[in-house]
Amino acid sequence: MKTSIPRISSMAHYHETYAQSINHPESFWHTIAQCFTWKTPYSKLLNWNFTEPHVHWFQDGTLNITENCLDRHLSTHANRIALIFEPNDPASPRRSYTYKALLQAVENMAQVFSNAGIKKGDRVCIYMGMVPELAIAVLACARMGAIHSVIFGGFSAQAVADRINDAAATFVVTQDLAYRGAKHIPLKAIVDEALVHCSSVKHVLVYQHAHSAYPFSEPRDINLNKALESIQDTTFTAVEMQAEDPLFILYTSGSTGKPKGVVHTTAGYMIWAQYTFEQVFQYREGEVHFCTADLGWITGHTYLLYGPLLAGATTVMFEGIPTHPHAGRFWEIIDTYGVNIFYTAPTAIRSLMALGTEPLQPFNLNSLRVLGTVGEPINEEAWNWYKKQVGKNKCPVVDTWWQTETGGILISNLAGIGPERASWATYPLPGVQPVLVNEHGHVLNSANETVQGNLCLQFPWPGILRTTFGNHQRCRENYFSMYANLYFTGDGAYRDTNGMYRITGRVDDVLNVSGHRLGTAELENALNHHPLVVESAVVGIPHDIKGTAIIAFVICAANNYNTTMLLTEINATLQHHIGAIAKADKIIIVPGLPKTRSGKIMRRILRKIATGDFENLGDTSTLVDSAVISQLVDAAKIFY
Ligand code: WT7
Repeated sequence: MKTSIPRISSMAHYHETYAQSINHPESFWHTIAQCFTWKTPYSKLLNWNFTEPHVHWFQDGTLNITENCLDRHLSTHANRIALIFEPNDPASPRRSYTYKALLQAVENMAQVFSNAGIKKGDRVCIYMGMVPELAIAVLACARMGAIHSVIFGGFSAQAVADRINDAAATFVVTQDLAYRGAKHIPLKAIVDEALVHCSSVKHVLVYQHAHSAYPFSEPRDINLNKALESIQDTTFTAVEMQAEDPLFILYTSGSTGKPKGVVHTTAGYMIWAQYTFEQVFQYREGEVHFCTADLGWITGHTYLLYGPLLAGATTVMFEGIPTHPHAGRFWEIIDTYGVNIFYTAPTAIRSLMALGTEPLQPFNLNSLRVLGTVGEPINEEAWNWYKKQVGKNKCPVVDTWWQTETGGILISNLAGIGPERASWATYPLPGVQPVLVNEHGHVLNSANETVQGNLCLQFPWPGILRTTFGNHQRCRENYFSMYANLYFTGDGAYRDTNGMYRITGRVDDVLNVSGHRLGTAELENALNHHPLVVESAVVGIPHDIKGTAIIAFVICAANNYNTTMLLTEINATLQHHIGAIAKADKIIIVPGLPKTRSGKIMRRILRKIATGDFENLGDTSTLVDSAVISQLVDAAKIFY
């Protein structure tokens, strides 16, 4: 008999649950762990230190996450839709899988993988577009105990090669080409280019999605469609995994060096994914969840795939982009499938906001119950627009703070329960023990004033990263060595007297102007209050007197303005919202900002441009659109 996770039902209940999770973590997580299917029970709940670091949850327990995502649901809702596929072209066939059908598809894929020679512990690199076979390939790896490393389909051949080599991946799963809006991305050809630099790969499994020819070289390449056709529908027994066996690697950029392979393990990640999904969104039995993230990012892993499936929800997978073939595509998908929970990024909200409300008009969005945001601090203007125009003022907005390294959400209000406050993520989830640390490494304990510091965690939660692949030392240096016995997030935050957190963004982006600290997020939030500013990015550059000078890059909504007046006005807006100290030294009007595929602005590039260094912009391979660079340089040149 499957028990369900005890649901937090009020703020009072939250505080009580939170206290239990902190005072009695072992019994707290033991109760939650009972809601899952284990092959063998664990003998020790938690064993940890943050110095090595060494974190073991549910030690000696064995399980398989796919039994929890799929098999576990068959007795109660085998015929519920698990996965809905919405193709890039709305005229293409839609597809959906019931829980029963998805399990069968995963078993067949696992059989094909096994026939190709993939074994438990192998690293399988998956480089695909947002098609169901991507989700199925990920789950097939998990079913057989292979470690998946999904690479976002927008990365270049060099980026793919770096990731394959770092993980010494022996298999690659890809597709002929991917559709994204009006673009066709020749994924298989890119893999071929990458593999020139990789010696570890034995086979490439290619899924044919389109009807055109693509490069194929036997015996290395295996036609996945044909291999799947020749499989009889049989069961593929889920491989028994240790709780701490790696489930996946996901590469993420740090402020220094090459991308690191963040490693998540089986049981802890699983429990964190379902627990946070249910609590934060207050998921109700049978609801439809639409997370707009790509499976190539952690948000896609945890809240498009694993979290919703573990909870038994219906998850929507959208192949395309929000503006193709029309700017109301998200809204159309919401109405078509009766989406109840919609989870997206502030950058998407802002870009849709810039198009006005017209694209929303044909859709009623009545099914929506909860809206979520993730990925960066959300500015008030975007938050208000989302709440009003998308949520019609009747849906709670959850501002969910977390990172690739945390596996799932750590700080967020709970839909309809927790306090809703624009740009405040508010309270930590049960089991999460944040602390704010000042520049000397002292923990800020004061509860009777608002404090600001570097955000750290002082106790492990089940979903914390365990290592960085192939280099444990790097994991220690990056996250556990800045402050003794603390996991350092790299983010700064405020905590008010109610204990609520407001995340201001990466601390490497916090500026010290004449001894005053200013978050770039804070500055941008202020700039965005100007009616003509659509989006902005602020960086600090060295300044002889003030220490740091503020340089603002702004995208403006119209182009028939008087530039001098506008710049004065924008600066006045900054000072109005923050103070005289926030005066920008330069405001550069630009047509676009350099963004990574996860929507984050690459400030490193802006900093170079802001200092007049137009030549050595470093690695720009993770930019969505590299053409933006020359536009920025042109816009900035007039100042130098
Ligand atoms: C960084 C992690 C977590 C999934 C997507 C990004 C920033 C994330 C918020 C939020 C303010 C946020 C932080 C964090 N961030 N969510 N709700 N409010 N900042 O994952 O690429 O690992 O980036 O994104 O700076 O450290 P990621």
